[in-house]
Amino acid sequence: MFFSSVATVTAMDIFLFLLVHIVARVFCYSSGSVEESCDDLKPHHSGWSPETSLAPFTVTTDRDTYTSGEEVTVYLRAVGSTPFIGFILQAREVGKPFTVGSFGLKTEAAQLLSCHQRLNTAVSHTSNINKTFIQVSWKSEGLAHTDPVHFQASFVQNYKKFWINVTSSMLKPLKTVNISRAGCSVSKVCFSEPANCDPTVSTDCFFMSAMMLSDSNTTIHYEMTGPSNGYISFGFSHDEIMGNDDIYICIISSESQVLLQRAFSTGRITPQAFPLGNVSDVRTSVQDSIISCSFTSTNTIYIQGSPRINEAYHIMFAHGPSTNGKIQYHAHRFVSAQKIDISRPQEVRKSGQPQIIKAHGALMLTAWMTMGTLGFIVARFLKGMTKEKKLCGKDLWFLKAHSVLGCLVMILSALQAIMAVLRCGPKHPQRFLFNWAHAINGVVIKSLAVTAIFTGLKEIDSSLNNWLMKVMGGFVGWDLLFYIFFEIQSKLSFSIGNLGSDMMAVALPISTYFLGNCTFLVTLLVGIGMS
Ligand code: HEM
Ligand SMILES: *[C@@H]1O[C@H](CO)[C@@H](O)[C@H](O)[C@H]1NC(C)=O
Ligand SMILES: *[C@@H]1O[C@H](CO)[C@@H](O)[C@H](O)[C@H]1NC(C)=O
Ligand SMILES: *[C@@H]1O[C@H](CO)[C@@H](O)[C@H](O)[C@H]1NC(C)=O
Ligand SMILES: *[C@@H]1O[C@H](CO)[C@@H](O)[C@H](O)[C@H]1NC(C)=O
Ligand SMILES: *[C@@H]1O[C@H](CO)[C@@H](O)[C@H](O)[C@H]1NC(C)=O
Repeated sequence: MFFSSVATVTAMDIFLFLLVHIVARVFCYSSGSVEESCDDLKPHHSGWSPETSLAPFTVTTDRDTYTSGEEVTVYLRAVGSTPFIGFILQAREVGKPFTVGSFGLKTEAAQLLSCHQRLNTAVSHTSNINKTFIQVSWKSEGLAHTDPVHFQASFVQNYKKFWINVTSSMLKPLKTVNISRAGCSVSKVCFSEPANCDPTVSTDCFFMSAMMLSDSNTTIHYEMTGPSNGYISFGFSHDEIMGNDDIYICIISSESQVLLQRAFSTGRITPQAFPLGNVSDVRTSVQDSIISCSFTSTNTIYIQGSPRINEAYHIMFAHGPSTNGKIQYHAHRFVSAQKIDISRPQEVRKSGQPQIIKAHGALMLTAWMTMGTLGFIVARFLKGMTKEKKLCGKDLWFLKAHSVLGCLVMILSALQAIMAVLRCGPKHPQRFLFNWAHAINGVVIKSLAVTAIFTGLKEIDSSLNNWLMKVMGGFVGWDLLFYIFFEIQSKLSFSIGNLGSDMMAVALPISTYFLGNCTFLVTLLVGIGMS
């Protein structure tokens, strides 16, 4: 069955068959003894030496660069009229002995082999019929894309004539990814931070674009770039909240090369890996810590509850560190203010005004902590001078925080101030009414304000362990401690009635209280700044 038109089975034919068979076996069949042939492409036990003359066969490719995801077509040709009956082909990084990437077939005259238990890492013939041309495809899957690659083949012309080391010219990894603003709002949707930054000009520009390729609604060319030592990523979402989002990630792999990954987030947790799907023309690069990726995808945006095309989605962008090729919690992220229809080229606006929110938070905290303390001191001194018994200081809190809470606190504070101004004299028989109302209102204001601050901080606190909130909790405890302390102390000093020692006894705890407040304040402000 392996023999061609030669009618009689001669010893030579058998040998020829064996050689071809052995070539096929020796070159990479999985049995242990032939493993080494995967490395030098040499039929070890044939007893014959390879030809040293120039091989009458060539290995060529359809391009001189390679990128991940893009197929390279490899041609094996007989240069003259002499055909070959057997061959084996591998791809290698130039100067390295291992096979890389994986092959695909376009012909029945060839078969895929596995070297070192890695599927489809070599190709060989399927029979010993004369061949002059073989075409196969190759992908650089799993490759680092740092080194040039070439294809190396051995050709068997007949039982004793074979050539090894027939190599193609080098294919360089395609590293240049040219991402610019060209076409923004005209042919592509662009989303960047800082707004409208140009990645070709600024090295601090996080930029992504999506461009519908002409005459197809479902083929989209994506680009993303930005400075990161870990990963950059963008995703599509129904809302502005992380969770149920279709995400593409460009991550620096352990070999310090950039890989494209796809993921699906189920919540504010590490997104799950997701098949890359129909993605082609992947180009990646990392230069001076700036990651760049571009690719073309025909995938529909995958979000649970909505597998429809031509829908509008919020675009998310996140970047952060990675370890061992896995993304970590983002250092920073931003979302589009509106749902975006990718088929309508536009400049996407970012959601929210985090800077303003941060400024608000910082100002409010500063006001709360310093004015609260200041008010306390003023109240203490007034009290020290007049010996007037009242719960003071509370009306000096300049508190307003979050919508309802903030407004309530404002109104109640105003009420508190008005009450204090209109209060009757200390000796008035109804004075106790004011004292009680003032005290209760004070406690209510304080509770509301603390709640408002907590809800506000929750918005700002972007840390995983919510340390801002914990610090704030610590401050509330600290505040309460001193409140109790001052109450007890004021009762004692009132009964003793010594102004001088009262002042001294108040100065030390107040400065301690003030210093403590400053420490909490600075910590919280740093936290807000970092968020
Ligand atoms: C290890 C991976 C990740 C973890 C543990 C994680 C965790 C979180 C957490 C805890 C939040 C809420 C706190 C905050 O605003 O920072 C959040 C928000 C966010 N994340 Fe992630 N994330 C991860 C990856 C990603 C990726 C790859 C994206 C890409 C699109 C992303 C997009 C967002 C966005 C846009 C927000 C803000 C919206 C929101 O508050 O939900 N995240 N993430
Ligand atoms: C294969 O080619 C060789 C050399 O051209 C020739 O001698 C041989 O007869 C051919 N075999 C077949 C089966 O065509
Ligand atoms: C084939 O190449 C290897 C190294 O690339 C070299 O050691 C060997 O001598 C070469 N063999 C022939 C026949 O050229
Ligand atoms: C990058 O793209 C822009 C616009 O598409 C083009 O003007 C520029 O020449 C390109 N640069 C390189 C290095 O290819
Ligand atoms: C693109 O979508 C529009 C409307 O959704 C449709 O009318 C048009 O035929 C689509 N074009 C292609 C090439 O699919
Ligand atoms: C990829 O494209 C093919 C045909 O173009 C389609 O049948 C298949 O469902 C697509 N796969 C994904 C994951 O979109």
